[in-house]
Amino acid sequence: MSDIAIRVENLSKEYRIGGKQAVNRTFRETLLDSFSSPIRWMRGERKPIETFWALNDISFEIKQGEAVGIIGRNGAGKSTLLKVLSRITKPTKGRVDLYGRVASLLEVGTGFHSELSGRDNIYLNGAILGMSRREIGGKFDEIVDFSGVEKFLDTPVKHYSSGMYVRLAFAVAAHLEPEILVVDEVLAVGDAEFQKKCLGKMGDVAKQGRTVLFVSHNMNAIEQLCKSCIHINHGRLINFSSDIHSVIVDYLFGDPSEKSSTIWINSENSYISKIFKPISLALTDESGNLLPSTIPNNSDFYVAIEGELAFKDPAFTVGYAIYSEDGALLYWTYNIDTTEDLWPLLNEGKFKIRSKIPHRFLNEGVHKIEMIASLHFREWLLEPGHNNPSVLLTIHGGLSDSPLWFIRRPGLLAPVLKWENW
Ligand SMILES: Nc1ncnc2c1ncn2[C@@H]1O[C@H](COP(=O)(O)OP(=O)(O)OP(=O)(O)O)[C@@H](O)[C@H]1O
Ligand SMILES: [Mg+2]
Repeated sequence: MSDIAIRVENLSKEYRIGGKQAVNRTFRETLLDSFSSPIRWMRGERKPIETFWALNDISFEIKQGEAVGIIGRNGAGKSTLLKVLSRITKPTKGRVDLYGRVASLLEVGTGFHSELSGRDNIYLNGAILGMSRREIGGKFDEIVDFSGVEKFLDTPVKHYSSGMYVRLAFAVAAHLEPEILVVDEVLAVGDAEFQKKCLGKMGDVAKQGRTVLFVSHNMNAIEQLCKSCIHINHGRLINFSSDIHSVIVDYLFGDPSEKSSTIWINSENSYISKIFKPISLALTDESGNLLPSTIPNNSDFYVAIEGELAFKDPAFTVGYAIYSEDGALLYWTYNIDTTEDLWPLLNEGKFKIRSKIPHRFLNEGVHKIEMIASLHFREWLLEPGHNNPSVLLTIHGGLSDSPLWFIRRPGLLAPVLKWENW
């Protein structure tokens, strides 16, 4: 028998643009459309159908027992790939061969029958995996225990919170002993403790020699868990290597269109939430001039953020996260880090704020600065590590005035600190 678990050959998936939204359109929206284009509507004309390739000619093989991470920007095609592998959607071209039973945990809403109780869904999923009632019964307590939703076992899952849903769905997928476990970004939904538990469980599953495919925006989790990593961009396979670190670095810093830019402008009107629209993120000098992509370390510079608020909300916070070249987070900072009297005003409408990064604080090398925003304690608007608006800055030279310090120091930061007798 061959040791291949998954073989994907020239896989492509074509979608209609706007197809996804069409499913969820309300009656009111449809009606409004017909008013906004009445002539077309009266003539019975339809807009021409536009399509695009969500997956484009992807080929790879995964060996049995391998734990493989899948990374890529929002909309890159990661979930689409997992859905095709789990046979939830059909490929437009190409083929997928799976050698073993697949259990998958995809977006909330797939895999479970919403009208059935948690209990019935456990049995249903087991049956789909080809297990007998007795076999499932043998795993039942473990599943319930792991999920922590015991009290709600007989409630239809449509009444579950998204966190509860994911807890149970993960417990089911991980405990029913599939040969191939496919997990899409679950960790984003559960709380921190549950995330840790899931990672541990996926590690166990991988150690038992089962194949694990894991999509995540959490690079640490990918590095911890996986033996190799796939990078997808615009539906194409960019990288597939067991050198996970270099795949991640290439993903975070590799896009050449970003490489020379110290300004990001929201030209595509992306990242808009109900309250916040980011307009620009820029690295500037004191007078507001854009920095070149490489600067010496001996002058201060500013991280400047422009945005627009649909309404004022005291919980709104905005700032940035900064990463070193190998993806390590150096720190986060927000507009509300100081005492309240020093916070910049953020009213309804446009705002422009900035924050100084002192000279001789960062180390030599490439840094990624990523805009982050949230409604404090309520929800992320731009969650760190999620392909948010970002800029790159390379620091080279200007490290210190000391006659004895002229090369890059090891370490993430390189502050020039004063020493004194006392
Ligand atoms: N059913 C659908 N109909 C039309 N377009 C779709 C459908 N499902 C996904 N898409 C589109 O296909 C592209 C790939 O989506 P996919 O969900 O695979 O991205 P992803 O890599 O999982 O992104 P994320 O990191 O945001 O989860 C996106 O442009 C998305 O809008
Ligand atoms: Mg996805």
